[in-house]
Amino acid sequence: MLPLEVLNRAAAEMTNYNGSGMSVLEMSHRSKVYDEIITSAEALLRRIMGIPENYHVLFLQGGASTQFAMIPMNLLKNKADYVLTGHFSKKAYEEAMKYGEISIAGSSESENFARIPRQNELKINDDADYLYICANNTIFGTAWDYIPETKAPVVADMSSNICSAPIDVSKYGLIYAGAQKNMAPAGLTIVIVRDDMLTKPMDFTPTMLNYNIHVKNKSMYNTPPTYPIYIMKLVLEWIESIGGLEGMQKINLKKSAMLYDYLDSSNLFKPAAAKDSRSIMNVTFRTGNEELDAKFIKEATANGFSNLKGHRVVGGMRASIYNAMPVEGVEALVDFMAKFEKENA
Ligand SMILES: Cc1ncc(COP(=O)(O)O)c(C=O)c1O
Repeated sequence: MLPLEVLNRAAAEMTNYNGSGMSVLEMSHRSKVYDEIITSAEALLRRIMGIPENYHVLFLQGGASTQFAMIPMNLLKNKADYVLTGHFSKKAYEEAMKYGEISIAGSSESENFARIPRQNELKINDDADYLYICANNTIFGTAWDYIPETKAPVVADMSSNICSAPIDVSKYGLIYAGAQKNMAPAGLTIVIVRDDMLTKPMDFTPTMLNYNIHVKNKSMYNTPPTYPIYIMKLVLEWIESIGGLEGMQKINLKKSAMLYDYLDSSNLFKPAAAKDSRSIMNVTFRTGNEELDAKFIKEATANGFSNLKGHRVVGGMRASIYNAMPVEGVEALVDFMAKFEKENA
């Protein structure tokens, strides 16, 4: 979802942005008017996330998946640690294996990724070039509630929870996110990288996959995803208007607590993620009976609740309640679930 205010504003500005006589969709990325959009988008992101001066902010393409390769190509010198907590961290690990010595520092795969390993379960190489985690596991509905302790810089995939709550950026060496869940339409990937992380990439690294090139060219080495960057700017203005990331977190905690409280008290639906590992963005649950799950999804869809079917590797249901989902949407879902529970007791 995108906030309705943002969509309305984009619609109003669609054919004539700020008196420029043209749509943002039509602008040259090197025009003065567009330069103001990208510059203020970066300034807003820095302000809202509290990004320190010694971090670069990059606006890239290729989705989060391209980062699975860019990270090792640019950061891997000797070895790296990966924690496997779901589908996307496993994909990142498999991609990184092509480029060097990669260790699994922890994994919850044997428990179908229902929880995040605790610090005392991690086998950390303090001399690794980086430790890789996926901060929020979209498919499994789990999220890290701590930053692993290691001497190595932490690299985090925040595709499905960026800007959902305040974070301390200075605790990370690199943060990245496909922007399509919480910030913008598809086509934009945000990379936030500490300056000292950027040394010489592997010799064969394609120019377009070299962070240094994008830093040097301020994300303008080639044409950046201009329209998603503009929408991101509007989304960030919306976040700021509701109290920044503190305000956003308050709403997200309220929404997710409504669902988890109901699930914890329900006799029909069971939460899929372990209590200490629950995501505030993706709430996974099931009845334990596949036929009943299918009936629930069918009736929910008929009642206007979209995309509730869980990913095929977990089954059951998943309510993705990203930033733009209003509290009323979650209230309506909980009411609908309670009604379904009564009817199917
Ligand atoms: C946590 C996470 N990482 C990576 C990806 C892959 O993103 P993309 O489709 O932008 O490559 C996704 C997609 O859902 C995701 O949720």
